[in-house]
Amino acid sequence: MLGENRNLTDFSSNDYLGVSKSKEIFKNAHQYLLDNNGVQNGATGSRLLSGNYSLYSLIEKDLSVFHNAEGALLFNSGYNANLGVFSSIPQRGDYILYDELIHASIRDGIQLSNARQFKFKHNDVSHLEERILFIKTEIKNNDSVIYVVTESVFSMDGDTPDLKEMVEICEKYQVFFIVDEAHSVGVFGKNGCGLVQELGLEKRVFARIITFGKALGCHGALVLGSRALQKYLVNFSRSFIYTTGLPPHALSTIKQVYKFIRSGSGAKSIKNLHENIDHFQNEIDRLQLDFINSNSAIHCCIVSGNERIKSIAKKMEYNGFDIKPILSPTVPEGKERLRFCLHNYNTKKEITQVLESLATFVI
Ligand SMILES: Cc1ncc(COP(=O)(O)O)c(C=O)c1O
Repeated sequence: MLGENRNLTDFSSNDYLGVSKSKEIFKNAHQYLLDNNGVQNGATGSRLLSGNYSLYSLIEKDLSVFHNAEGALLFNSGYNANLGVFSSIPQRGDYILYDELIHASIRDGIQLSNARQFKFKHNDVSHLEERILFIKTEIKNNDSVIYVVTESVFSMDGDTPDLKEMVEICEKYQVFFIVDEAHSVGVFGKNGCGLVQELGLEKRVFARIITFGKALGCHGALVLGSRALQKYLVNFSRSFIYTTGLPPHALSTIKQVYKFIRSGSGAKSIKNLHENIDHFQNEIDRLQLDFINSNSAIHCCIVSGNERIKSIAKKMEYNGFDIKPILSPTVPEGKERLRFCLHNYNTKKEITQVLESLATFVI
């Protein structure tokens, strides 16, 4: 059921840095268009037809430098980007290995592909290696390309795989590695450049998918990789080709958000977010609450049963907190959870209060 935001303390939105409500970014994005001959309400067509105005290449160039990639391609959303990448790149006879908890947009992209697909156990590098060996030795199809996909921060668990180990396994078996950085950009790495870059792995990953609707508080997505990858997607990715481009105000906002995260205030917002994450973790320990291990802005308390979790979320709402219950089948049965999203604008007091309130219902 669709709900509207009420005046509750926000522990549910993906707006980790509070960017979506920034008047300054809103004003600057508008002013930039006025100053740069950019007054236009819509893109007017697909980027392959009339919709590719100059702000596109300006931003793609700038973001490819910031994210240290040869090529960058903007998509209308993270959903569209994942659909485009996974439906167009792996071919018949190829294999896609995906973490069992991978995001629905990647699953949908994989469903549209002609490649064969296998899942591996969540964040389990040994199981991933077993799966690769199975394809390499049992199936013995030497022409096949294998793709491995994971998320640097899992959207429903908030946890992180061992990306270094995964890169090493992928290199050992000459497998292409793709990382969805939706919940990592804006949170990890210098100026929020993401976990892959923080670990210095960007040149060892085939593609990264970045979304702007989470910590960056606006809209759209970016695929980072080689120039050949960028060119390929422009010509073969149907979710890129057969849709109207983003309107100029969306691009102008992306430009201003990236300016913000590279500024002193951006760095301060990221630092505040991490202080809140630390405080949240300390309070979990103090109250002896059972949460999935996470260093990200997403923290989950498993409480099994759809009815029980809905009832706790309702009581938390009555106490003034907006926290979303995540029900099965979105997560496996028995793994229903309360999903807490932390922000730079949550106060330490609010964090303590929300966890003390939770403790009265779950302990
Ligand atoms: C891991 C992950 N990838 C992709 C997406 C889709 O991004 P967008 O909201 O920009 O379509 C999401 C958002 O739900 C996500 O959590």
